[in-house]
Amino acid sequence: VDVGSCIACGLCVAACPYDAITLETVSWNGGPKLAAQVDRNLCMSCGICGSVCLSSSISIEGYTDASLSESFVAPKKGANPAPDSAWRGKTLVIACNWCLHSAPDIEYASHPPQGVKVVNVPCAGRVTPAFITTALQRGVDGVLVVGCKEGECHYKQGNALAKGRLLALQNLLDLLGIERERVQLAWLGSLDRGKFPELVNKVVGDVRSLGPVMWGE
Ligand code: FES
Repeated sequence: VDVGSCIACGLCVAACPYDAITLETVSWNGGPKLAAQVDRNLCMSCGICGSVCLSSSISIEGYTDASLSESFVAPKKGANPAPDSAWRGKTLVIACNWCLHSAPDIEYASHPPQGVKVVNVPCAGRVTPAFITTALQRGVDGVLVVGCKEGECHYKQGNALAKGRLLALQNLLDLLGIERERVQLAWLGSLDRGKFPELVNKVVGDVRSLGPVMWGE
């Protein structure tokens, strides 16, 4: 918790699935200040607190808004770029760590095809609509969020949170005249070993058929 920027709104307290966060009066800058505090014995490191924080003041290590946001850029062409057709549907995949069950899944996520970028998060519940709109504004043509199957989230309701947020975002995209198919959510259950590449390739095909995002047209 960055006590200095915490505004003690209490959203993280309400969102934490493990009741690991409380608002406490702490000493800061020579005086008392009310701020979120985490009980490390209860925290399960899902990162859901970070997804609701209004001031980017709470996060788990390695998954701050700032560090994740740096990853939400379009994949870059390497020394031997694939044909232009592969770059027509630049796709960002944000995948819950728990969804990559087998060696082929992990291999694909580590070395995705050109035009595809995979970013891992501890749980789909860590994903905010702002992550996705940031990626779209930075040249990504489509975003796929992959979470654990309903009923299998390792942090109680993280995938349900992701579902609600993405539906709301898709409705917003409708209003903006941007195809809602550019933002997709998919589940991979514990029995779906090895299905990650097939799932991503399908969505990449969808995004390619849409082409670049036409902002304001
Ligand atoms: Fe995978 Fe929550 S742990 S979606």
